Amino acid sequence: MVACEYRPGLEGIPAAQSSVSFVDGQVGRLEYRGIPIQELAEKSTFLETSYLLIWGKLPTAEELRDFCYEIQYHRRVKYRIRDMMKCFPESGHPMDALQASAAALGLFYSRRALDDPAYIRAAVVRLLAKIPTMVAAFQLIRKGNDPVTPKDDLDYAANFLYMLSEREPDPVAAHIFDTCLTLHAEHTMNASTFSARVTASTLTDPYAIVASAVGTLAGPLHGGANEEVIEMLEEIGSVEKVRPFVDACLARKAKIPGFGHRVYKVKDPRATILQKLAEDLFARFGSDMYYDIALELEQIVSQELGPKGIYPNVDFYSGLVYRRLGIPNDLFTPVFAIARVAGWLAHWKEQLEANRIYRPTQVYAGYHDQAYVPIEAR
Ligand code: ACO
Repeated sequence: MVACEYRPGLEGIPAAQSSVSFVDGQVGRLEYRGIPIQELAEKSTFLETSYLLIWGKLPTAEELRDFCYEIQYHRRVKYRIRDMMKCFPESGHPMDALQASAAALGLFYSRRALDDPAYIRAAVVRLLAKIPTMVAAFQLIRKGNDPVTPKDDLDYAANFLYMLSEREPDPVAAHIFDTCLTLHAEHTMNASTFSARVTASTLTDPYAIVASAVGTLAGPLHGGANEEVIEMLEEIGSVEKVRPFVDACLARKAKIPGFGHRVYKVKDPRATILQKLAEDLFARFGSDMYYDIALELEQIVSQELGPKGIYPNVDFYSGLVYRRLGIPNDLFTPVFAIARVAGWLAHWKEQLEANRIYRPTQVYAGYHDQAYVPIEAR
């Protein structure tokens, strides 16, 4: 076998041939199935975009109506899953609760009939429908309340906000939240999508695939960064303290959450849209002191690290939007997961269309022919 160079983090190594999405990190371009993200954010909805990602084309009016109806119909989760969630410790992280709950769905629905389009469709619908319900259910359960039943006359985004707060959301806020979901729905071969594709390649069920991807998304270098951004803004506390904070991070070579990206060497286009959404929310519902801190931070970090291609990524402004929408900090990453389920499912389908199990190699750096030393001689 030909020896090949080891690249930490598989940087620059294609892990799949895909037509789901495209990124040009030098100019900040992102497309889902060839459509620029700016167009989708402005004109589409999260469920229409999910259909586009998963089935590879924009739905007709009838296809979209049927898809939305099926998802609405399947929003509830079985009482046994709710009872299982009641046994989770309320101090546990909601991403861990989501990972366990997503895996538990497989106990009820796993048939692994991967060559049956009806099974694929039902799994797509169930996962898109039930993940938000499970995120909201854990939030209410850990506060000591019963989960709220989904409300049929509310659309996808509005229903999630309703299930979280037990109040019907302002329509503009719900629309902005829906756009956030569209922005987070897919992003080429990131860590959680890679994880989803590796898991999919074993021909396991889609619930295991989503559980695997949720676990990968949870880390602070990936989806978990949005929560860390708000914690950082809270820790900084005032605009005057931004400069000393950045200097201290640079001095100890600490990574600043919400900045930097393996692919983007300019400001992430999603960060630009999210910043505008944050401003729209502040104009309607009042400003947020942390926004001024964020602006100062962006300016100073871009000045200091811009020459290295480090600018705000998707996680930098999303937390400010979610905060204004009343979503608790530790639900930011589960909200990211709600959206990214669409991308993971699109990659699941694509993987199945030309599957070969992932089995990379390694560069062995250990010893050979070592003697076994008896325990009493060690
Ligand atoms: N703050 C300060 N310096 C940074 C940052 C940052 N946020 N990100 C990268 N750098 C520096 C590194 O220190 C390194 O400098 P060096 O060459 O002098 O050693 C250089 O930029 C390259 O950084 P790597 O860590 O090698 O870049 P990599 O591509 O492996 O990592 C990542 C990308 C994980 C996103 C990184 O930028 C990071 O940790 N950012 C903070 C966490 C974050 O916001 N994650 C969310 C990413 S978006 C998403 O996953 C949804």
